[in-house]
Amino acid sequence: MSEMIYLDHHATTPCDPRVVDAMLPWLTERFANPHSDSHAAGREAADAIAEAVQTIATTINAPASSMLITSGATESINLAMRGVMTHPRNRRNHMVVCTTEHPAVIDVATDLQRSGIEVSYVRVHPQSSNDGGAAGTIDLDALADAVTDQTALVNVMIANNEMGAIHPIAEVARITHEAGALLHCDATQAVGRIPVDVDSLGIDLLSASAHKFYGPKGIGFLVAGGTRRRVRLRPQIVGGGQQQGLRSGTMNPAGVIAMATAIGLGLEDAPRIASLRDRLWETLRSEIDGIELNGPPLSDPSVRLAGNLNFRLLSVEGETWMAATPGVAFSSGSACSSANPSASHVLLAMGLSESEARRSVRFGVGRFTTEQLIDDASEQLVTAYRRF
Ligand SMILES: Cc1ncc(COP(=O)(O)O)c(C=O)c1O
Repeated sequence: MSEMIYLDHHATTPCDPRVVDAMLPWLTERFANPHSDSHAAGREAADAIAEAVQTIATTINAPASSMLITSGATESINLAMRGVMTHPRNRRNHMVVCTTEHPAVIDVATDLQRSGIEVSYVRVHPQSSNDGGAAGTIDLDALADAVTDQTALVNVMIANNEMGAIHPIAEVARITHEAGALLHCDATQAVGRIPVDVDSLGIDLLSASAHKFYGPKGIGFLVAGGTRRRVRLRPQIVGGGQQQGLRSGTMNPAGVIAMATAIGLGLEDAPRIASLRDRLWETLRSEIDGIELNGPPLSDPSVRLAGNLNFRLLSVEGETWMAATPGVAFSSGSACSSANPSASHVLLAMGLSESEARRSVRFGVGRFTTEQLIDDASEQLVTAYRRF
């Protein structure tokens, strides 16, 4: 791994050394159970968690009282979607999901559908769109058509993990609330990369994972209840009654403190990261014939994440190029689930053919990527491609 150039920062990010320094004492000398309020060591851990939760809440402008600590975005998403839809006082049986959501959302929707909940999928603007919408961003007219007075929850991610599209969340929230529904945003790719303001965007529930913003794996959070609307959740994990009974289990002080430290380091330096991403794109585009961008324009940071690059090759499959370039970590347009890699549902939802999706690749530039690393990676990628 030491020689590998890591350009896959949508999959995960390295733990920032400052995060590791902040968390270590909570694994060793300050190891008390934060729920042991009978002694000072336990209370110290509880206070440290409360302070860390406040830091996270302040950074995203959400009430600290609405924060639940989880094992990561997948758990947060399960708690948000199942928690709202299956709450005994929820009378609405319909849910909306954007077609390009992560499987962590789509698979929960499919599961809820099996238990009788109705789900509508809302399309995004296609790649070859001439309707004025940025490719890959949600079609707001379709969303307005999909919501009804039976809709309890609308699920739209803030930023997409494959082609970096940033959805118009404030408008999504307006349409959602007009129908009397709640808005859940998977913010896994957004937190740490672009400003996220729960209150001004009108988000009711928000899911995130620390390892996507230079924190450790296995810790995340759910905002359940922005400042304006009440959110009722049915717990998915029951046990000791921690976190108001909404997510039982001993909390992880080192993880929460690490997550707060990571979020407190601020946003990635988007202009620097965008210029490295553009450098990679320009080199590859000039050296490799016929490659085409997937997703919104790179030039507009309001609709595309700075570090994201996704494009399709003329004739070579992404998997083949990846296998031929072992020194660079990037990913392809197929999701390797089980033995049968299927073409990315995100690219298909944008109107790409199965073959185009299979010929697609994704790069993610990160905080510790340098110009030298981009140049070395480009050279390896071009050399490997010329052998085909
Ligand atoms: C958009 C999005 N949502 C959810 C997840 C799931 O996050 P985790 O595996 O940390 O639970 C990911 C991870 O790739 C993601 O990119």
